[in-house]
Amino acid sequence: MLNNTNFRIGLGTDLHRLAPNLPLWIGGFRITESLLGCVAHSDGDALVHALIDALLGSVAMGDIGTHFPPSDDRWKNANSLDLLAQTLGIIREAHPTFTIVNIDAVVHLERPKLGVYRASIQETLSTTLGLSVECVSIKAKTGEGLPPIGTLEAISTQVVVLVSI
Ligand code: C5P
Ligand code: MG
Repeated sequence: MLNNTNFRIGLGTDLHRLAPNLPLWIGGFRITESLLGCVAHSDGDALVHALIDALLGSVAMGDIGTHFPPSDDRWKNANSLDLLAQTLGIIREAHPTFTIVNIDAVVHLERPKLGVYRASIQETLSTTLGLSVECVSIKAKTGEGLPPIGTLEAISTQVVVLVSI
């Protein structure tokens, strides 16, 4: 407890296999220049999935599979930004004053370089979360040619959030 504010942190990670002829969604943004996309039950947005887990983790409310089970056909090809908005609603039902302080994320992807997409991804996520854009940080790393990221077999993500309840 600091100034009567109850701060929490949350951590989320995700990994998806990459394959040809599939769309690559990162942070609600379609990376059209990529020849590879995610093998997934939903749209395979590894950044949004890790963000959902980080938010749920901050309040110890399970994980993405708890609320949106992949075995349930309602979530087949689900739009991850919709799941993100629903996650906020689920958390706010339990914690009405739930507020995100900031988000910091890393995307591990060999190519393409994500720098040109950073502003669009930050904008998309901050709009969905009703958060100021400078509270959403997105970083990217290659895999230096090493498996599975560097060999173009996978994308992985890590997200940390600070919230108050
Ligand atoms: O992985 P590495 O340290 O070589 O990445 C160098 C820089 O390239 C990163 O700091 C980031 O700015 C950028 N990068 C990127 N998109 C990727 C991977 C790396 O923009 N998919
Ligand atoms: Mg490096």
